[in-house]
Order: sequence, then C-alpha cells, then structure tokens
Amino acid sequence: MKKIKMLTGDRPTGKLHIGHYFGSLQTRVKMQDEYDCHVMIADVQALTDNFNNPEKVRKNVYEVLLDYLSVGIDPKKTTIFLQSMIPEIAELTVFYSNLVTIARLQRNPTVKTEIAQKKELFGESVTYGFLGYPVSQAGDITAFEGEVVPVGEDQLPLIEQCREIVRKFNSIYGETLVEPRAILSSNKRIKGLDGNEKMGKSLGNAIYLSDTDEEISKKVMGALTDPNRIKKDDLGNPDICMVAYYHNLFSKDEVKKICEECKAGKRGCVACKKQLIENIIKALTPIREKRKYYEQRPEELRQILMDGTQRAREQAKETMKKVKKAMKLDY
Ligand code: TRP
Repeated sequence: MKKIKMLTGDRPTGKLHIGHYFGSLQTRVKMQDEYDCHVMIADVQALTDNFNNPEKVRKNVYEVLLDYLSVGIDPKKTTIFLQSMIPEIAELTVFYSNLVTIARLQRNPTVKTEIAQKKELFGESVTYGFLGYPVSQAGDITAFEGEVVPVGEDQLPLIEQCREIVRKFNSIYGETLVEPRAILSSNKRIKGLDGNEKMGKSLGNAIYLSDTDEEISKKVMGALTDPNRIKKDDLGNPDICMVAYYHNLFSKDEVKKICEECKAGKRGCVACKKQLIENIIKALTPIREKRKYYEQRPEELRQILMDGTQRAREQAKETMKKVKKAMKLDY
C-alpha cells in the first residue's frame, strides 16, 4: 500500500529547543513508520528575513540537522533535505506568484504579525521576498505532493493559502497539484522558563536540546516560581510555578507528590529545582550523545543531507514535469 506523503520543515535560524521537541519533533518521529515523510531544512525561507546574515543560516543548517538526527528522525525512513538545492521550488514559486494577489498576502495573519515584529529589519516597506514567502512555501509543499503537513498553530494560515493556490492552479490548468491538509503537530505549546506563553530563542527562555549540564542548571535555577512563596514552609501554588510545569513534562511519576508537598509547604524550591535539573539531564542525555556522535562525523552528516536532497529532487522533478505540461510549457 502506498504511504500518505507528509511534508514539513523548519527555518534554520537557531538550534532547536525542548519546545520543538514536545511540539513537533516527537510527532515526526512517531509518523515516520506510517507516512512517507519529508522534512525540509528551509534555508531559502530563512533568508527571507536573514538575507543580511547568510553565515547564520548556513551554520544553523547543520545545527538543525544535528537536532533532527539526535531526537531520532531516521534518514532511512524520513527524507531530510535542503531547500536551496531544489531549484524546482523556486521555479514553482514564480508560476504560483501569478495566482496570488498582493492584498491576499498582506491579509495573511501570520505574515502580518511577522512583518509587524520585524520593523527593525524592514523599516517602512517589507521586501517582496518576505511578503511572498507563503507562495514559496506552497512550492515547498506541492513539489513533493505533500498530503499532510504537520505544523504549529501559527502556520495554519500558510497552509490555507497553499490550498487556495492549489485550487486556483487546478481550476485554470487542470487537475495537477495535490491539495494538502494541515495537521496540528501538537496541541501543546511549551511555555518558557519565565512563564511566557512561548518558548523562543529571541525570548531567552528556552532550554536547547544541545544545552550542557551547566546551562540547564543555570536556566532552571533562574526559572519563575510562585512569587508569593518566600520561605520554604509558605504554602506554594504549583499552578503558577514554571518548575512544577516542567516537572509535568520531565518527572511524570513524581509530579503528583511534588505538587502536594509544595502546596503543603513541605518542599523547598531549591530542592525542587535540583530534582528537575536531574530529570531534564536524564531525558536529554541520550539525545546529546547522539548529537555528539554526528558532530564527530561531519562527512557522514553531510552525506545524509546530500542523499536525502537527491531523493527529494527526483520527486520535485516529477512534479515539475506535470506542472509544465499543464501550463503548456513542456517544450
Ligand atoms: N514556515 C515554517 C516555519 O517557520 C517552515 C517551513 C518552510 C515549512 N516550508 C515549509 C513548514 C513547508 C511546513 C511546510 O516554521
């Protein structure tokens, strides 16, 4: 039986953190036996808001690849590939750009929010490339005939826009492209150490998969706890404590007892943090070991990316043939 095609990706702008792990990476690992999985390192898309920093993008291509492999995305099951080495995506982007209006792009809620956040980079007027990245993302998805696209909630408007492009293409040029369907890769969004709703690189509140013991320790020691609890025997409220929140993720067997002791004023925050540090380190150790294995084998790492990219390219070429035929460009 033919497996359903899955496609998703990340912009290589930084190392991945435990928010990604619980949010999307675990889902991908689970999906790889049942689906025909494609995971793209979207370096061209990363350049849309990092065009002035190509070194950053290049360096993070390998960081993200290391993170993928370290959590168990298996290159034998999942096609891991690099966007910039698939020129068909750029070509599709040009074709699709006729099927999207500027007003529609400007109304895309995700793009709108991001432009507002990037005033410093874009000033008064956003670049054509950034405004148009949903078109290029439609190229990413359709080049591989992605049927399901696991993404976070913020990406849903991009998948919706891709679906519109597909429908428009098919209505003009004939049934050619596959219309993708978004699936939420997780309904969990992991909060930051500071209690912020989002864990993010720019927010400085993240634990990275590659953090050392010392970094984890320092970050957890600085995490937000119940601000009303000053002395150990004050009664604590775990509902507003980030340490309790992370115990939920990393200390499943112990969390009930931990929270009871906290509420009864029988457990100090320092002891509680130390226990959490230990459990995070325990959980991340196998991931960090795998990372180290590949870090020490840069040639093998490179080969994995090139093999995946070659496989992906074959597929993109097939799609391009169909698209050009439909558009009467099959000279
Ligand atoms: N825009 C996605 C993000 O910022 C990354 C991405 C690029 C992507 N191309 C994709 C996700 C195609 C899903 C499908 O996280």
